[in-house]
This record gives sequence, structure tokens and C-alpha cells, in this order.
Amino acid sequence: MQGLLGEKAFSLEFDLKSGLCGQRSSSKRMLSDIAGIFRNPQAAVERAEKDNPLVYEFYELPLPNHPGDLCFGTSMVYPGQVDGEYFMTKGHFHSILDTGEVYHCLSGQGMMIMENGAGDWNCLEFKPGTAVYVPKGYAHRSINIGEKPLVTFFCFRADAGHDYQSITQKGFRNLVVKGPNGPEIIANPHWS
Ligand SMILES: [Fe+2]
Repeated sequence: MQGLLGEKAFSLEFDLKSGLCGQRSSSKRMLSDIAGIFRNPQAAVERAEKDNPLVYEFYELPLPNHPGDLCFGTSMVYPGQVDGEYFMTKGHFHSILDTGEVYHCLSGQGMMIMENGAGDWNCLEFKPGTAVYVPKGYAHRSINIGEKPLVTFFCFRADAGHDYQSITQKGFRNLVVKGPNGPEIIANPHWS
């Protein structure tokens, strides 16, 4: 039945607070899966050995991946930190680099950090009701700076694919960490 999704009109329910969809199963990223994305990976590994929290989950709906089809779902980044760095997604470019994407924040508080290959970057705030447009060519990562789940609804062209490798190798230029007066954007010491 799932294979037919998107060939006909359909609807799904995403809870506005939790972001969860009871009709589908999500993809989950535990801290042990992504320890290497933090500026202090050793601290991430040590925490993962203790209680290995769920850092984020999202829906990958089996929609057709032809030009003209749209891919959508929700992403939930849970609250927490590793050595002062907020829980976040791995971040990605799209395999078709010329892909824009929109994220609409349903619940929680966070940031969307973006950067392109030409050196431009931006960091925009998420609060309930905020829609962030990620322009084509920009890697993007969601960061939870609050104490509740950060829930966003996303939509992009279904044939775009994901390139996690490029941004994982060089890292994002900037990180969002907890400072004495709240979130701070700092240069990534490991950026290459
Ligand atoms: Fe994306």
C-alpha cells in the first residue's frame, strides 16, 4: 500500500505538538549514530554509552521521486546538549543542488543554520509559526535551542535526494552553543 503513496490524493495527520504521525513509522537518529557531528565527539560517545538518547527523528514518506512530485514530512529534534552544543540534525545538501526547501515550525524553539559552497551562510530562528526558506545550493541543519521538541514540517522536490557526505566531511562553518546569556553562534574549530 505504501508504494502507491503519492499516485492518488491522500492525507496524513501530524500532531502539532509532537510532530508524530501515527500512520507511518519514522527514521530515528540516536546519539551513538551521530556522535561524530559534535565538536566534542568524545563527550558524545561517553553520553551515548550512558543512556544513548534519541536526538532526532523524521518521516521519509515513500513518495514518487519524479520531477514535479513533492516530498514532505515532519522532523523532530529533541532538547539536549553535548558539552554545551545543542542537539541538532546531521544536516545535508540535496543531491540536486538546485533545490530549495521550506520548513515550517509547528512547535518548540530552534535555529536553522545554512551555508553554501561559495562561503555564504545564515542562521534563522524557529518559533511556532515561523516558516524558513532554505534557498537552493545551501546545506541546512536544524538545531533545538529550547527545552521542548523542535517540530518542523518540511517540503521539497521529491527527486532532489540527500547528500549527507559533503557536509559531514567538512562540517558547518558555524556552530550553535549554549552561552551564559543563551545561544551563541561560534566558528567551528574543526571546519575545513
Ligand atoms: Fe533538505
